[in-house]
This record gives sequence, structure tokens and C-alpha cells, in this order.
Amino acid sequence: MIKAVLIGYGNVNSHLLKALANSNKTAVVQLYTRSEIQLPTAFQSIPHTQDLNELKEADVYIVAISDDAILDFSENLPLNNQLVVHTSGGVSIDNLSKKNRRGVFYPLQTFSKDTVVDFKSIPICIEADDPKDEALLQAMGEAVSDRVVKINSDERAKIHVAAVFVNNFVNYLYYIGQDILKQDGIPFDILTPLIQETAHKIEDLSPEKAQTGPAKRNDKKTIEKHQHLLHNETYKEVYALLTKLIQEHHAK
Ligand SMILES: NC(=O)c1ccc[n+]([C@@H]2O[C@H](COP(=O)([O-])OP(=O)(O)OC[C@H]3O[C@@H](n4cnc5c(N)ncnc54)[C@H](OP(=O)(O)O)[C@@H]3O)[C@@H](O)[C@H]2O)c1
Repeated sequence: MIKAVLIGYGNVNSHLLKALANSNKTAVVQLYTRSEIQLPTAFQSIPHTQDLNELKEADVYIVAISDDAILDFSENLPLNNQLVVHTSGGVSIDNLSKKNRRGVFYPLQTFSKDTVVDFKSIPICIEADDPKDEALLQAMGEAVSDRVVKINSDERAKIHVAAVFVNNFVNYLYYIGQDILKQDGIPFDILTPLIQETAHKIEDLSPEKAQTGPAKRNDKKTIEKHQHLLHNETYKEVYALLTKLIQEHHAK
């Protein structure tokens, strides 16, 4: 049984707590938060502390706090020679204090506290300085996920920037779509099947092959009409830039 102490109870650790507590290969022996929290009824038996000096013994301490806080927090953690991991895509393993054994346990998914995720399908990117610790993270990952991959900090930084494009930017484009429709009182959910099919399609086709639309077809009349329909200057710029990228790529 791998014993974990979870540090922080935000989007990531609220899901990780469920996954680790529900596996018979892992146990959450304690949760630390700096603020008061309300745990779901099912997990209220998990010991909770707001005092770092009361941290229990564990095989691994999972620090899922804001990226900017990781370095200072790990330096002030009253532990020595313990396995301390962070869960960030964009932060190097070197941003953890060397007074402990360092690692990374990055679940490659977008988490919000109140949404349901299928943890088993989430790739877990692991990294550790020590091969024994790497093996422990591999085992902990396999307890909660079907896909655990060894990824170093440089590779993880690349994955993170790619993830910003395919998740954060795409989500903002959803917002732009919603905003355009709102002006005429058209409900956003009319686009939901299209959004779902777009995501679903790349399970079988490469993004390059899945591309459709006026830019790909080089349909100049439609592109011009769309530019006239857009009143927001920034949306026009985004439309023009993405159109240019698609046209240039597919003209090759
Ligand atoms: N959200 C995602 O989709 C996602 C996906 C993969 C990885 N990650 C990574 O996972 C980590 C956590 O992200 P998150 O989205 O779960 O963050 P979050 O929802 O903003 O929660 C952050 C948690 O950290 C605590 N915290 C922040 N600064 C702290 C400090 N100095 N000392 C103690 N506790 C502190 C917060 O406590 P308070 O409530 O007291 O502020 C809160 O419990 C980040 O490294 C992030 O990059 C996030």
C-alpha cells in the first residue's frame, strides 16, 4: 500500500484524493491545506491538518499548489529526505527543494473541482531523481491510471505548451463562438455536437487530415463575408491569423 499525504485541495488534489483513496493500492493518510476546507462526506474520515508541523509519515508528499508557490513552499516544508512531488506541467523538477527527494506526478488533463473525470484514462507523466522513487511513482500512477509515462522536465514543458494550444486556447475559441452567437440570442449548445465531433475525429485522423472549412478550401468569398460579419476587431484579427496559418499550411 502506497501512503500519500496530499498538500493543497484545489482542482487537482480534489480529484487525486478521490482516485488515490478509492484505489486498494494507495491510501491518503492525510490532507494538508493552509485554509479551512469542507471535504465531501465520503472522505471526511481522512485526517486533515492546517499545521505543517503535524505532517504524518508517508511514502510520498503530493504538493498540488499554485505553480508560483511550489519553490518557496518546498523550501519551507519541515521534511528532510522524503519523496516530495509536484503536479505541474509547466514547472521543472528543479523547482523543488533539494533537501527532499524530488519528483513530479503530472496528470495530463484539465481539472475543475466540480466536474467528473475518468481518472483511469488520464495520462500521468512521472519524473524522479532517484530510480526507486520513479518506481514508486510508476506504481502509484498505475494504481489510478491506465497510462503512466516517464517524461523529463524539458519534455513536460513542451507537452504543457502544446496542451495550452489544444485546451486553453481552444476553450477560449469556444467563448468567442458563444459571444458571436449571443449577440443574436442563439444558444451556444447548438454548437455542442460540432465541438464533440471535432474532438472525437482526431482519435482516428491526424489534425492535419481532419481540417475542414473555408480556409482549408481557400474559399475567399466566404472568408470575406465572415470578416464583414465580425464586429469585434480582435476577433477579426484572430480569424485572419488562423485563416492565414491554415491556408499557408494546406497550400504546401
Ligand atoms: N487545474 C488543472 O487543470 C491542472 C492540471 C494539471 C496540473 N495542474 C497543476 O496542479 C497544481 C495545482 O493546480 P490546481 O488547479 O489544483 O490549483 P488551485 O485549484 O488553484 O488550488 C491550489 C491549492 O493550493 C493552495 N495553495 C496555493 N498557494 C499555496 C501556498 N503558498 N501554501 C499552501 N497552499 C497553497 C490553495 O490554497 P488556498 O485555497 O488557501 O488558496 C489551493 O488549495 C499546479 O501546479 C497546476 O499547474 C493543474
